Order: sequence, then structure tokens, then C-alpha cells
Amino acid sequence: GKESIATSFADSLAAIRSKLPETLQNPQVGIICGSGLSGLVGSFRETVIIKYEDIPGFSTSTVLGHRSELAFGLLGDGLGVPVVAMLGRFHCYEGHSLPSVVYPVRLMAKLGIKDLIITNAAGSLNPSIPVGTIVVIQDHLALPNLTGMNPLLGLKTSPNLPRFLPLSDAYSPALRRLAFLAAHKLQLPDEALAEGTYAWVSGPTYETPAEGRFLRTIGADVVGMSTVPEVVTGREEGLNVMVLSLVTNFVVIPESYRSIREEVHSELAGKKITPPEVQVVSHEEVLSIGKEKADVMRRLVECVVSTI
Ligand code: 6GU
Repeated sequence: GKESIATSFADSLAAIRSKLPETLQNPQVGIICGSGLSGLVGSFRETVIIKYEDIPGFSTSTVLGHRSELAFGLLGDGLGVPVVAMLGRFHCYEGHSLPSVVYPVRLMAKLGIKDLIITNAAGSLNPSIPVGTIVVIQDHLALPNLTGMNPLLGLKTSPNLPRFLPLSDAYSPALRRLAFLAAHKLQLPDEALAEGTYAWVSGPTYETPAEGRFLRTIGADVVGMSTVPEVVTGREEGLNVMVLSLVTNFVVIPESYRSIREEVHSELAGKKITPPEVQVVSHEEVLSIGKEKADVMRRLVECVVSTI
């Protein structure tokens, strides 16, 4: 209930604050690192790592490629900006409730962050956005939000929060500008960064071909199983939000279905048709592209934080 969440925030904050030196008490930017993208912490200075299991109110992540640690440190040029990063996030498909998935976002807001940068691994639905591209998310399609799986359902966690949150400019145009400027500064090729709409699905299954075609038709460029609950909650908490999706694979959308009916009829008529090969997505593939491109993502986030 409401009361236990409030108590838990105070306990979580006390546990965290007692472990931080003065310089890290007021992080300005919160970062959530997606699958295989926790390497960012390698760029931190004066790093303090706190295990999720040592923070009251936190769950732990059970997904391969996700750690379960909160990292504090200074990031970026000069003295550096104090930041807090989640190394590993929670997903609904692990059995976490939406309130536990977004709990760390509320906590980072209470720690005083102003900006929230979220990275994730996603599948591309758009033929002009190939594997390896980093997509600066401009909007989302959240089918779960539209059908009763909205993280803001229920009693408000604070009376100051709005009841009906507008999401017309959820993805900060100012932060998105910084991402493209950072890519230029890092001399990344123009096609390294794209812009697109993220479709959130609950997972843990990958899409069927029909579902992939559906998501493409309704306007999504990439699809993934995370991020949107944290974006919505971050907006509710008044944070500026930016999302960077690393495309780790294509969602296979065949032009047409393999027709068993046609194959059988042709065979009976004495002509054999070779069926098209079926491509299958795997979590290993997702992690391996993440590993390859993690360094670009790390430099990009570091550069954005320097200019925030
Ligand atoms: Cl193809 N689908 C979903 N839902 N999430 C993904 C993905 C695909 N690739 C990486 N994450």
C-alpha cells in the first residue's frame, strides 16, 4: 500500500545516503543501463557501488546480461557530473509488479536527479534502421498502457503528482538534440544514430511475424520489453527523459506467409517448392551486438552528460 511505499522510500534513501561521500550525495542525472550496456560504469570516477539486495525496497534482476547494482560516480569532462546508474533493471516478465519496476525511478527522483537517460536493446521493425544503429526515441506506443498495465494505475504515491499525466512531449527535445550533437562531436557517421518510435510489449516471448507486421503498421520503428514504465514514471516525477535504443536484431517480417497449402498442391502436381528459411531471434544475439556496440553507447552517454 501507499504507506509501506512511503516508509520504504525513507529507508532506501537512508541506506543509500549512509554509503555515499559528500561529492555524490546529490546526483544530477539518473541512468538506466539496458541489456549488456552496464559497461558505462567503467567511465565513472570516485565510483560507489551498492548492491540492490542491500537497498530496502529494491528487487533484484534475474536476467542474464543484467547486474543488480546501483552505481554512483562522477561522469564526463572536467570535474564531472554526479550521476547514479542502475546496472540492471526490472521487467514485468520476471514477475515484478509495475510499482516495483518503477520504484528505482521514484527513488532517483527523490535523490534529486533532473534528467533520466535510459538505454535498452531493441529489435528493429524498420528496414532503414539496421542492426547496430542507436535509435534516439522520439515517442512510444505502449499497448500495455492502453489496456490496463499502466505503471500509474492506482493511488498516487504523492498528492503533488498529477492525476492525468500528459505524454505529448515525454521524450525531451532538448536532450535529444544533445544526443545528435554528441554523435557529431564523437565523429560518429551520420547513420550511427537514427530517430524513431519505440513499441513496448510485455514479453517474454518475441513477436510472431503477424505481431511484428502489426507493430510496424501502427507506426513503431523498434520494439522492446522495457523502458516505457520508467519513462512514464520519470515524467510523472517531473524529470527530463531521453531514451537510446540499440538495435540488436531485425524483427523478421516476411513479405508473405509460407503457404503449406501451396507447397502441398505444387508437390502433388509434381513441382517441388523450396520453403524460405525461418529466422529466429535469440537473447545471445541480442547480448553479442550489445557487447560490440556498448562502447559507442558508453561514449555517447558520457558526452551527453558532459553537455547537460
Ligand atoms: Cl525482436 N523484440 C522484443 N520485444 N524485444 C527485443 C527484441 C525483439 N530484440 C531485442 N529486444
